[in-house]
Amino acid sequence: MNEIINNILTRRSIRVFKEEQIPESDLNVILEAATFAPTGMNAQSWHFTAIHSKEKLAQFNSLVQKILLKHPGEDPSMPYIDFLKKVAEAPNFNFFYHAPTLVIASNSISSASAAPQSDCTAALQNIFLAAHSLGIGSCWIHLLVLISDLPEIREHLTELGVPPEHRIYGSAALGFPERSTPKPAPRKAGTITIVK
Ligand SMILES: Cc1cc2nc3c(=O)[nH]c(=O)nc-3n(C[C@H](O)[C@H](O)[C@H](O)COP(=O)(O)O)c2cc1C
Repeated sequence: MNEIINNILTRRSIRVFKEEQIPESDLNVILEAATFAPTGMNAQSWHFTAIHSKEKLAQFNSLVQKILLKHPGEDPSMPYIDFLKKVAEAPNFNFFYHAPTLVIASNSISSASAAPQSDCTAALQNIFLAAHSLGIGSCWIHLLVLISDLPEIREHLTELGVPPEHRIYGSAALGFPERSTPKPAPRKAGTITIVK
């Protein structure tokens, strides 16, 4: 089978990672792949903030946990807040699955691209596929999309390098898989129509 198709078909979300950090050279290749995704109007108005540090991600996880636990909950402007608060109560839970690296994809809401979210999503898929081709596991982490407007989280994101006027559209946990790659869920029938 064509190598690219094989890479697409065998990529899976990985949620258990080895302690070992991924090499910076691989991270650079993955980030370059992200920047070669298509963008509306070729805007390229996105930003990729890579946290290549297990320690900084552990600190970030503790901050998320602390902020979620003190949030009063039941906030209609924050979908899933009660679910996230429940998850945060588990003392050893790590919102980034203890991955050694996280790439945050953000974009300007006033981008010349008509679709800043779609641009970031295309880039994230490039990240997942590039990582997989290098033997690196990945998983979409949606959490930051949901909580990035909480002031203390935004402050921390700005310190990390996320442009303050950007919205977060997704993030990718990266690391070497601890276990063999899981089997894909069966594909749902009836999702394709070909008209001739
Ligand atoms: C928009 C989006 C958000 C996702 N958010 C999360 C998430 O927050 N945590 C997680 O573990 N997986 C997340 N996933 C991964 C999906 O659960 C996963 O892709 C799906 O179960 C299919 O598995 P596969 O990636 O191994 O094919 C997300 C995927 C997408 C496309």
